[in-house]
Amino acid sequence: MRTQVGIVGAGPAGLLLSHLLAQRGISSVVLEKHSRSHVESRVRAGVLEQGTVDTLVAAGAGERLLREGLVHHGIELRYGGAGHRIAFEKLVPGRAITVYGQQEVVKDLIALDPSRVRFEVSGVAVHSLEDSPSITFDGGRVDCDFIAGCDGFHGVTRPSVPEGVLTTFERDYPFSWLGILARVPPSAEELIYAATPRGFALHSMRSPTISRFYLQVSSTDSMQAWPADRIWSELRARLETVPGFSLETGEIIESGITPMRSFVTEPMQYGKLFLAGDAAHIVPPTGAKGLNLAVADVRVLTAALDRFYGEGSSDALDAYSDGCLQRVWRAQHFSWWMTTLLHTFDTDDPYAQRLQTSYLDYVTSSEAAATTLAENYVGLPYGWGVQ
Ligand code: FAD
Ligand code: PHB
Repeated sequence: MRTQVGIVGAGPAGLLLSHLLAQRGISSVVLEKHSRSHVESRVRAGVLEQGTVDTLVAAGAGERLLREGLVHHGIELRYGGAGHRIAFEKLVPGRAITVYGQQEVVKDLIALDPSRVRFEVSGVAVHSLEDSPSITFDGGRVDCDFIAGCDGFHGVTRPSVPEGVLTTFERDYPFSWLGILARVPPSAEELIYAATPRGFALHSMRSPTISRFYLQVSSTDSMQAWPADRIWSELRARLETVPGFSLETGEIIESGITPMRSFVTEPMQYGKLFLAGDAAHIVPPTGAKGLNLAVADVRVLTAALDRFYGEGSSDALDAYSDGCLQRVWRAQHFSWWMTTLLHTFDTDDPYAQRLQTSYLDYVTSSEAAATTLAENYVGLPYGWGVQ
């Protein structure tokens, strides 16, 4: 098989890239190791920045998103027995977020043209990355001009780069997030980020009848240690901390534990291989940035490939990595900062706890500090950065 861009991975990055390229007359094939139903039902992110929504709409994948997505103009920070609203409409006028499940984004993108995606492909390997790249898999081979590594943190493309080329930067956190999806109406209209001495909790949602919750748990915990009763009682203990708030409980329809990690690889390119999304960088989910960064990378890569095929210039492809990394590092800092601000660390000493409370007090009382949180949370505009 021959195509212009061979894409590994049918997550949001690979699917969106394939579709944006098709809109520009550039051919691609997406190779995915899991089944269609598996990728369509994987519950992950929920918060879309305005730029992400705009990109999905421009890609033609916005019809259901605009109808069913929940537009939010603020979030609550809850700690010390009180709730504090970070009001986007006041702090960053005209900007908001949309709550819409990542698996719905994936479904919408696949539905646009399922024929470009090959599911359940095993044994994917990439070759000749310097000059004439190809992708082999059990039972097939794709020759292409470029390869897009959109295969997530555990994929095969990044490890195929020769040793010594890439530099990696990482941070592990001594805790994980236990996430559940529950058939129960949200207990508040907006997201609640709760910092408590028992650990962090997040109240989120997917629709007027489905809620999403997360609990900070030990990085050694497994789901066996968390039967439904324990999950609900811990969520209650961490969220029912302000007068008049009571948590609705109900049937848990999905659950899982995700480790927390920060990771960046530099550069995000080697020869004809371009890494995008979680294949190149990951952030702890506290800042809700991972999916949004994947979309931002894909926008930059699409424009660069369009320039290459339209004008024959590789300038934009050569600038791809630097063009992405400024946003990547801003999101790294923001995600690390939100994580540090809101979680309980095992090693906490009283001094560190006082610092955490002091910063929470600052963010919830100073308009300047709250604006910093708000403008990062809703997402910096495309084109932002030191030029
Ligand atoms: P992925 O979604 O990981 O897709 C990679 C694809 O490659 C997968 O389909 C995988 O099966 C496939 N693949 C891997 N290896 C191979 C191989 N060898 N051959 C073929 N295919 C392969 N982000 C936000 O922006 N907002 C949020 O609110 C948010 N919340 C989150 C909550 C949780 C609990 C988690 C876990 C993540 C959250 N994220 C959030 C992060 C977000 O989900 C990821 O950043 C996003 O999925 C990245 O998309 P991607 O396409 O780069 O990678
Ligand atoms: C979610 O709804 O899944 C979600 C919301 C906010 C986050 C992370 C995940 O920071």
